Amino acid sequence: MDTSTAPQSRRIAVVTGAGTGIGRATARAFAAGGAQVLAVGRRAEPLHETAAGHPRITPLTADITAEGGPERIVRTAREAHGRLDVLVNNAGIVRGGALGALTPEMIDPQIATNLIAPILLAQAALPLLEAAGGVIVNVSTSVGQRAWPGSSVYAATKTALELLTRSWAVELAPRGIRVVAVAPGAIETPIGEHQGLTPERRAAVREWQLAHTPLGRIGRPEEVARAITQLASPEASFTTGVVLPVDGGAVVA
Ligand SMILES: NC(=O)c1ccc[n+]([C@@H]2O[C@H](COP(=O)([O-])OP(=O)(O)OC[C@H]3O[C@@H](n4cnc5c(N)ncnc54)[C@H](OP(=O)(O)O)[C@@H]3O)[C@@H](O)[C@H]2O)c1
Repeated sequence: MDTSTAPQSRRIAVVTGAGTGIGRATARAFAAGGAQVLAVGRRAEPLHETAAGHPRITPLTADITAEGGPERIVRTAREAHGRLDVLVNNAGIVRGGALGALTPEMIDPQIATNLIAPILLAQAALPLLEAAGGVIVNVSTSVGQRAWPGSSVYAATKTALELLTRSWAVELAPRGIRVVAVAPGAIETPIGEHQGLTPERRAAVREWQLAHTPLGRIGRPEEVARAITQLASPEASFTTGVVLPVDGGAVVA
């Protein structure tokens, strides 16, 4: 085991949901630091956009919720690079809905994408992460830490991901693997469009977010990406089990 000290130029990172938003910025940030990046998502076109002009980024079209999907992603990293230093569980979906109006079509994909897939990916990656002294970075949310009426299932998946982060940090510490999370606030990404919100609804959400963000603006994906690469860096070698808000102060307001 090389205890997380591999130079950036030798590091291999898997980033899920890398075709857009925070995942795209994260893939590019790792690549800019010299790492080789496997950029995972369901749609090929956005992944290729992410990789365009970034030769260290390799797109991998894969559904993390598909049977055998997590294992295929890890196998691809192993066959291409022989190692894995960083797993970023970033892919996530939001399907709103208040209790009373929830259907399995709204509940199941959120649990499959935001919770079960990160578990199976982390599990599949364990041998490679242990060999590398690697890091798992989970992407949670700072919105909904207290309550999130209308998006309770989404918030519940993210809260669970934070508990997994703390639990795995303790479980995996003896194996030399660190586990951390970032909790973004309101970030400028297409997540609202992917949720199917109308432009009017997105504008209303944006207004609410601005009113509840002390720094008074929406964050950029690159600002979350920087927190992810810093937490994943060998320089953060004594940091594990933390959830770092990247939210303009929203969670403490
Ligand atoms: N933006 C915010 O304000 C905010 C705030 C708090 C937390 N977050 C979290 O940040 C993370 C990134 O979100 P984002 O804002 O960057 O939104 P986004 O642009 O919608 O990114 C999500 C990505 O996940 C991919 N994805 C979804 N389901 C997938 C699956 N089954 N398999 C593989 N890839 C899948 C999507 O690409 P495909 O459709 O091509 O698969 C998409 O590129 C999410 O976990 C989100 O919950 C975002």
